Amino acid sequence: MKLEKVNVAVAKPYDVIIDNDLIKNAGHHLEDFIQQRKVMIITDENVASFGYLGSLQEAISPITKAVHTITLPAGEEQKSSANYIYLQEQLATLNYSRTDVLIALGGGVIGDLVGFTAATYLRGIPYIQMPTTLLSAIDSSVGGKTAIDLPQGKNLVGAFYQPARVLCDLTTFHTLSQSIFEDGCAELIKYGMILDDELLNDLMTRDQPLTALSDDLANIVKRCVEIKRNVVLEDEHDLGLRQLLNFGHTIGHAIEQVSHYKVSHGRGVATGMILTQLMAEKEGLTDLILAERFNQLLNQYHLLDQVYLAKAYTFADLLDAMTNDKKRRGGEITEIFPESFGKCELKTITFDQYANWLEKFFTDLKTDQLPITIIGAEA
Ligand code: GLY
Repeated sequence: MKLEKVNVAVAKPYDVIIDNDLIKNAGHHLEDFIQQRKVMIITDENVASFGYLGSLQEAISPITKAVHTITLPAGEEQKSSANYIYLQEQLATLNYSRTDVLIALGGGVIGDLVGFTAATYLRGIPYIQMPTTLLSAIDSSVGGKTAIDLPQGKNLVGAFYQPARVLCDLTTFHTLSQSIFEDGCAELIKYGMILDDELLNDLMTRDQPLTALSDDLANIVKRCVEIKRNVVLEDEHDLGLRQLLNFGHTIGHAIEQVSHYKVSHGRGVATGMILTQLMAEKEGLTDLILAERFNQLLNQYHLLDQVYLAKAYTFADLLDAMTNDKKRRGGEITEIFPESFGKCELKTITFDQYANWLEKFFTDLKTDQLPITIIGAEA
């Protein structure tokens, strides 16, 4: 494949580079930027176990003054205030200065945690995103949203802080479990639903589901990064258009949170998207009657197979989790509703109205009357 590059022209423009073997060739792709500075690579045990940490360390050693590494356990619970302070203290102990560099090598958890550490250490130190999952490649590594979680909710503490470069090494997707690859497909389907009718049509009509080995994967990643870039350029700070990227996320985050992150982000978002579509159809908020086809598409990627976990929680638990949602502003919430094929719109409604609509759906969910098929779910 040929190397793909997407430039994100924010105040400090940066490139997103998409190719195979970028970790192996990181010396070449980062030489102009690192210029013999100190580099701290932060990753997780899964990523390190596949040899990517060792490979990156070896590749950049010749172009750095020193390389340090920190390997955290994997999982959403690592996006904690304790790890955030731990990273800050490690950087201070090693005398990192504002000219040194952090590298986030991993999925969305590592990217968000390292990004927030970089945003605040010495009031800002450069960082490079090296996403190793489809989900982080097409969403969280691009656009500068960084955060950690609190016990009260996901991503409640964070900053907008853009990376200095993004290297998306597609070969790392080959070692993703099917389930983690599918989580990324939830975000891919989201892009189709909110902004790209062609992508949505392509996903609904392709002969074979997308996999890490699909010939068109690089093009699809590039297309999603371009969509994200365009949204971020128009609304970097999430005041308008960027909120579309939260389609399915209000319900999704609440499900993730109440399940103590046993429901993954992709599956939480997929559940949130289908429920939002169903709710919109039922309440006459959309002319788009798509729930059945949308449901089939999500099931192709097994994205509703954890919905049964949500049944263990009451609507009150979910509502409680939503009360702390960032998208809530006073008594109102801006939610994203499908408008037509490949197009969503933002609607600001009272939180009470939103809660009312949702309650009906979660009541159905609890009584097994949810009008969607869930392939592979536990009874
Ligand atoms: N992940 C949503 C955003 O970056 O705005």
